[in-house]
Amino acid sequence: MIEASAPGKLFVVGEYAVVEPGEPAVLIAVDRYLHVRLSETATPVALSTSPHVQAAIGTVAELCAARGIAPRHFDIQIESELDEQDGRKFGLGSSAAVTVATIAALDALYQLKLSPFERFKLALLATIQVSPRASGGDLAASTFGGWVFYRSPDRVALRAHHAAHGVVSALESELWQASEIRELPAPADVRLLVGWTGSPASTEELVDSVSASPKTGNHDALREAFLSHSSKLALSFAAALESGASADQLFEIIRASRALLHRLALDRGIVIETETLSALCSIAEEFGAAAKSSGAGGGDCGIALVKPENDIPSILRAWEQHGITHLDLDVAGSAATRIGAEDER
Ligand code: PMV
Repeated sequence: MIEASAPGKLFVVGEYAVVEPGEPAVLIAVDRYLHVRLSETATPVALSTSPHVQAAIGTVAELCAARGIAPRHFDIQIESELDEQDGRKFGLGSSAAVTVATIAALDALYQLKLSPFERFKLALLATIQVSPRASGGDLAASTFGGWVFYRSPDRVALRAHHAAHGVVSALESELWQASEIRELPAPADVRLLVGWTGSPASTEELVDSVSASPKTGNHDALREAFLSHSSKLALSFAAALESGASADQLFEIIRASRALLHRLALDRGIVIETETLSALCSIAEEFGAAAKSSGAGGGDCGIALVKPENDIPSILRAWEQHGITHLDLDVAGSAATRIGAEDER
């Protein structure tokens, strides 16, 4: 059996903007994992019906065919720490993690010897067959782990290139040059708190609404203003981590990022920060921390950055009183995707 595990993720800064090719975001991988266990079988078995798993299998199968590697039969079992026991998702990027882990398991099965960046590329090529707008930031965090700086490539062009020229050419395409994945140093003396609202959100619907024309004002001007502001925030957050800036500087960027998302939601007539997410942020602020929704919002999780002197037990107690579940998780280390050595368990 081969086991591959990939962590979940959370957006820190740059969500929504990162959907535009080349726009930056900062994410973290979290130390909750999705595990894919792959066992070879003598005959074909019915595999997972998850579209992400199927797309991952299909993309690797295409690569194997191009390399002249004979297909094998296997069974796939998936175990996720990214969902509540009753099946509700935390919004920690389970679709990305299952894609990344499936590709890593197949890499081991077929001994493709893919680099992490090649696994990321295959994962993104597979993902955009299912969710064409997905930025791939979650795949980058899940593949590389830690604190990650990310810019997406042009997925419309990549999808078209893949369809026209096949996976080998798509992997080598110059289109990847617009994308960037860089590991960032973790901040010293800043702890991450994650609160789960308990309500699921549809990232795709929210991203569609943001891409649609806004209700007021000039669409292009608003869009440009949002992208330029978001880009500044993501770049300054990355620079602050790289220069070991103070917690206060990071907090300022988190607060500005929250305000920017408020404005985006207002412009587009959508709800990013729900009442529960608002409560999560106000409570954290009350105790001197900085907080915001993470990812598409509309439910799922919010994050708070806290200093050692902030009263964490009081924040968590107040969260609980407002129906917010503290997810006890930390940032996953780098080289996050773990591939178990082949063994005969
Ligand atoms: O809601 P999440 O955590 O899946 O994040 C979505 C982030 C977006 O930027 C809105 C979409 C994307 O694909 O990056």
